[in-house]
Amino acid sequence: MTVNGKPVQFDIDPQTPLLWALRDAANLTGTKYGCGVGDCGACMVIVDGEALRSCLITIAEAEGRFVTTIEGLARDRSHPVQQAMVAEQAIQCGFCTPGIVMAAAALLQRNAAPSEEDIEAAIQNLCRCGVYPRLTRAIQRAGRVALRQETISAAPAPGISAEDAERAVPAMRADKGA
Ligand code: FES
Ligand code: FES
Repeated sequence: MTVNGKPVQFDIDPQTPLLWALRDAANLTGTKYGCGVGDCGACMVIVDGEALRSCLITIAEAEGRFVTTIEGLARDRSHPVQQAMVAEQAIQCGFCTPGIVMAAAALLQRNAAPSEEDIEAAIQNLCRCGVYPRLTRAIQRAGRVALRQETISAAPAPGISAEDAERAVPAMRADKGA
C-alpha cells in the first residue's frame, strides 16, 4: 500500500488490523488506539479519500490503497484543520485529536462549508475531554480557511524538523518500507 505518499510493504499476517501495522510496524504512532472495536474514532486514517477506522480494516483489505495518517496530512502542521484546532483551542489532552483531524479533513474535502448538523453527522469521534462545541467552531473555521475566506497565522512549529521525523520514522522514507 502507499502510506503518506511512500510505498510500504508489510511482511506480517494479512489479517493484522491496519492500526497495528501503522503503529507497531511503521512506527506511525500518531494514529491512536482507543477502543479497538470501532467506537471511538481515535484510530481514524484517510484511505482513498475516506476517513476510516484503522482498527476495523485489515492490511489485506488495505492492500494497494492510499493511506494517509496524521503524520502525512501536513508535515509542518499547516493543514487548515490543524491550524483551526489550535486557534480555537479545540484540544485538551489531545488523545482524540489525530482521529478527529483526519475525520474533519476528509469531511472538508467533500464539503468545505459544513453546517453544525453536517459536522455532527460526519464526526462521530468520541472525546472524553468534551471539546465538541469548540470542535464545531474549529471545523467551520478550517473550511473558511480552505476556501480562502479567512487566514490563520501559522500553527506552532512541530518542534522537530521534517528530516528528524524521517530519521525517527522509517516508513516515511522512500527507500525503506516497514
Ligand atoms: S480504536 Fe478504532 S474506533 Fe476506537
Ligand atoms: S481532547 Fe482529550 S479526549 Fe479529546
